[in-house]
Amino acid sequence: MLRIGDIKLKSNLILSPLAGISDLPFRMINRKFGCHLAFVEMINVRSLSHKSKKTKMMLSTLRADSPLGVQLLGFEEEFIKRAIDILQYYKFDVLDFNCACPEKKVVRRKEGAALLKEPKKIHKLLKVIVERSHRPVTVKIRTGFNSESINAKEVALLCEDAGVKALFIHGRTREQFYKPGVDYDTIRNVKKSLSIPVIASGDIFNASLAKKMLEETGCDALAIARGSFGNPWIFKEIEASLKGRLFKRPNVSQVYKAMLMHFNLIVDFYGASKAVSLFRKFFNWYVKGFSNVRHLREKACSVRKEQDMLEVMRIFLKMHK
Ligand SMILES: Cc1cc2nc3c(=O)[nH]c(=O)nc-3n(C[C@H](O)[C@H](O)[C@H](O)COP(=O)(O)O)c2cc1C
Repeated sequence: MLRIGDIKLKSNLILSPLAGISDLPFRMINRKFGCHLAFVEMINVRSLSHKSKKTKMMLSTLRADSPLGVQLLGFEEEFIKRAIDILQYYKFDVLDFNCACPEKKVVRRKEGAALLKEPKKIHKLLKVIVERSHRPVTVKIRTGFNSESINAKEVALLCEDAGVKALFIHGRTREQFYKPGVDYDTIRNVKKSLSIPVIASGDIFNASLAKKMLEETGCDALAIARGSFGNPWIFKEIEASLKGRLFKRPNVSQVYKAMLMHFNLIVDFYGASKAVSLFRKFFNWYVKGFSNVRHLREKACSVRKEQDMLEVMRIFLKMHK
């Protein structure tokens, strides 16, 4: 059984933090289909200090939205400390520190994956976080900043020394962003060097890629990211495969039911007027792989009212039943 500090996890399949995506409705729909530990998208320590409405929405949770991880993005010790103090009033179980985000504006601020260029700074910040946090602390890294500076093992050992309870590693460099080519060797090296759990991510799009990650790296758990887009069943699919059980792909009625449930969760959380535009990308992902959906995708992108989005979904069901 996977443990992160004193948190015992029922599954070694985790929903990765996903900026702009892993809000409460998304986490709940994935939990419905077998996800256990889920993460809130990364939160900048400065925006947390400003207590904006958006940040509060990000941290909204329910009793059933548990266990829950919160991820901080930051560089300045003072803001990080303040963010941890503010977070003590929120409900969640694991605190993660982001040293992996590749986005230009993040790296320019020396945050996220930029920190991989300063392993000692990561060590110092993590010591501060571990000392201040009342929850188990984890860290997320990439294999290195670019192909000439693969330093995940060095960074990982410093993270362990700072007292983190688990390490997440995305098997790409910052320079790679999300381009093909997961570096299984570096993840394996990191896993061999640490005694805390190592949780790997990178191209886990189905059960065979999940098995490949586990077999090639020996990692303790998997963090699912893009593989969950329009496919919350991925958790059940991987679990079934690892236990040698058969997994039946959802039929069109089941896909319809799941997307309807997801849409309704978004409506309840954000209100109907916002929900339609927020749901568009999810609709596109749910219908991926079905035939003749181009015009429905276009329709989903143009409708503005809740009833119209529901109608687009009903047409999808009728067309494929
Ligand atoms: C749209 C998007 C948003 C992401 N947001 C975050 C984030 O907030 N924090 C984080 O640590 N990783 C973030 N990631 C990285 C994923 O959590 C994951 O590590 C990465 O996508 C590799 O897994 P995959 O190849 O299976 O997608 C994001 C990835 C995507 C595609």
